[in-house]
Amino acid sequence: MTSKIIEAAVDGLHGVITIPGDKSVSHRSVMFAGLSDTPVRIVNFLRAQDCLSTVNCMRALGVNIADDGEELTICGKGLYGLNEPENIIDAGNSGTTLRLMLGILSGQKFLTTFTGDASLSKRPMQRVITPLTRMGASIVGRKINTLLPITVIPAKQRLTGITYEMPMASAQVKSAVLLAGLYAQGVTTVIEKYPSRDHTERMLKAFGVDITTQDGAISIRPADRLHAPAEIIVPGDISSAAYWLVAATVIPNSDIIIKNVGINKTRTGILDVLNNMGANIELCGCRTDGGEPVADLHVRSARLHGIDIAADIIPRLVDEIPIITVAAILADGRTTINGAQELRVKESDRIKAICREFGKLTNAVTEKEDGLIIEGNSAFKYAQCDSHDDHRIAMALAVAGASGKGVKISGADCVNISYPQFYTTLEHLK
Ligand code: S3P
Repeated sequence: MTSKIIEAAVDGLHGVITIPGDKSVSHRSVMFAGLSDTPVRIVNFLRAQDCLSTVNCMRALGVNIADDGEELTICGKGLYGLNEPENIIDAGNSGTTLRLMLGILSGQKFLTTFTGDASLSKRPMQRVITPLTRMGASIVGRKINTLLPITVIPAKQRLTGITYEMPMASAQVKSAVLLAGLYAQGVTTVIEKYPSRDHTERMLKAFGVDITTQDGAISIRPADRLHAPAEIIVPGDISSAAYWLVAATVIPNSDIIIKNVGINKTRTGILDVLNNMGANIELCGCRTDGGEPVADLHVRSARLHGIDIAADIIPRLVDEIPIITVAAILADGRTTINGAQELRVKESDRIKAICREFGKLTNAVTEKEDGLIIEGNSAFKYAQCDSHDDHRIAMALAVAGASGKGVKISGADCVNISYPQFYTTLEHLK
């Protein structure tokens, strides 16, 4: 396991950076292009382990994917043209790969078996298996059809559209059901309590699918084929930008520009929270690229104050809680994070991982079943911490170290899951 020592950023952060492509959009671009039957070029695809798991998966199903080091070119097999894989498919650490693919494969006439790494093998899959089974899919897995390894058995009949009210806020569950809906008879509707990321809906619409959203209900009609655009431009990932948004805010004397960040409303909870805490973030050059809104973000240091974060905003910042914890520890006053129980079933139990690891750097953080209480006006001391093999915990710890007295992180290389250049960029900004 690789350890990394992060030194304090004593002179602030400075510079202009471009962050890599959005993870969620990259996954979907490869999947949907693979289901179309005309070539699609993917620009700014995120070359990180999670998205490469999706590439491997689509290749195993017969999709031709060329990578010239700059762009991917995908020659899809059509909605009904995927092949039965010759071997078990490894989804690695990627919940998005596995859950969305279960939706796509539910409607196929062949068998597929998935495996994954130690973390993915513990994560709950009944949340997608339950609605997909209600649509007529046949899916079996370990621990009474809830955990990896999982096999999708060829459906005997065409799937049937359902109306599904999601018991949890999850874009992965929503997307899995909608993708199965592409193959189902009749309309499939997913109802969500609070809006989660809508990249599936936007991209399927760009592929000519009849998909509509009204009052939290998303409805899809089956399609005969997908009409792919010739090119998909992936915006920069706001979940990766989040580390620099917080770092440049809390480290005094910082002034940075983050270029080309996706600012889709379903992802900008981090901007709302930081602005409410008193941050100084300016959006410049707002534009639309490939159906997704994009801007450059200018961030300068600011003194923050604590706030209460409620359940309704959680889906819009679900991956940003570890880095928000860093901001809250250094802010004036108390911050509470509520309705975030989904964090317990991410790449690690993030509530526990945050409490355990930030507990070594400060004593500001208290665990709640559904979130955290963070006493601000605190500072970070030096400590040796562990990433829990969770990329977002590793990156949040690195920012804590840079804004305090340094940190040693064991299991530091898990940043390769979503942001392989993370440590290089941190050194560049110092
Ligand atoms: C994702 C959805 C979120 C998020 C994950 C990516 C997606 O998961 O945590 O990193 O691409 O749909 P949930 O939908 O399970 O909350």
